[in-house]
Amino acid sequence: MLVGTDTADDAGVYRLSDSLALVQTVDFFTPLVDDPYSYGLISAANSLSDVYAMGGRPISALNIAGFPVNKLPLDVLAQILRGGADKAHEAGVPIIGGHTVDDPEPKYGLSVLGIVDPTKMVTNAGAQPGDKLVLTKRLGVGIITTAIKVDRAPADLIDRVVRSMATLNKAASEAMLAVGVHACTDITGFGLLGHLYEMVAASGVRARVSMAAVPVFEEAYEYVDEAIVPGGTYANQAYLDKFVAYDPGLSNDQQLILCDAQTSGGLLIAVAPDRLQQLLDELASRGVKPASVIGEIIADKVGIDAIP
Ligand code: CO
Ligand code: CO
Ligand code: CO
Repeated sequence: MLVGTDTADDAGVYRLSDSLALVQTVDFFTPLVDDPYSYGLISAANSLSDVYAMGGRPISALNIAGFPVNKLPLDVLAQILRGGADKAHEAGVPIIGGHTVDDPEPKYGLSVLGIVDPTKMVTNAGAQPGDKLVLTKRLGVGIITTAIKVDRAPADLIDRVVRSMATLNKAASEAMLAVGVHACTDITGFGLLGHLYEMVAASGVRARVSMAAVPVFEEAYEYVDEAIVPGGTYANQAYLDKFVAYDPGLSNDQQLILCDAQTSGGLLIAVAPDRLQQLLDELASRGVKPASVIGEIIADKVGIDAIP
């Protein structure tokens, strides 16, 4: 076993030989958008992301689903599975089986099997002082999907947020592998600061994040102002309070955005400063947008500074 549960990494890694290791992960969740096909796309992209975050290549997947068989038409389940299959196909990954149970609330995701060269594997534990931090998707999707649930989000915003969540982290992962980076994780339920905290704790370093540089769906600010915020985001903020030093210039709303629980968020990559431009070029040439430099690793004592 090369990566297990002790460092809160994205996937488990098991070595088969000096040049080949298996990457294994499972992820599933309840619907966060009304359209079943989009839900399937998003959930599959999210499940595949943990393999990409390790620098791995997903090779096959299994469906895992719960569905209220006697309450919703089976066509809804078919649309969810079709979304998942289309996204897996885009990733070049065959879905080779799966399992569905009768469940009062729909649930869907994938168990993904990937491969990685152990010498090129990217964990969350390699960040070093001086590294630059790059983030590849906007924040705020937890807040905005909560606004969707209370019918407050306009159609064009739903479109943009669904597109972001359904975007594979494949191209971003290939870019970081082309360059060689120190550490990576994907941003999901613990929010930017929660997953950054896992990285700095595993690496034994301190990070500084500049709010002004963090890409955000601007509409999220309106909803936060009205307390349209998921419970998980408040829980993240409360949990992280003892690990994050917030500059007094950061508002509580800005803190909540930095802690917002994401679904299928982007990659957070720690890269040596002399390779930063190469990474940004590789991301740009693969069409990864945004690709924002949001901060750096500043010291070898664990923690996070968040500044305006
Ligand atoms: Co992850
Ligand atoms: Co995961
Ligand atoms: Co079965």
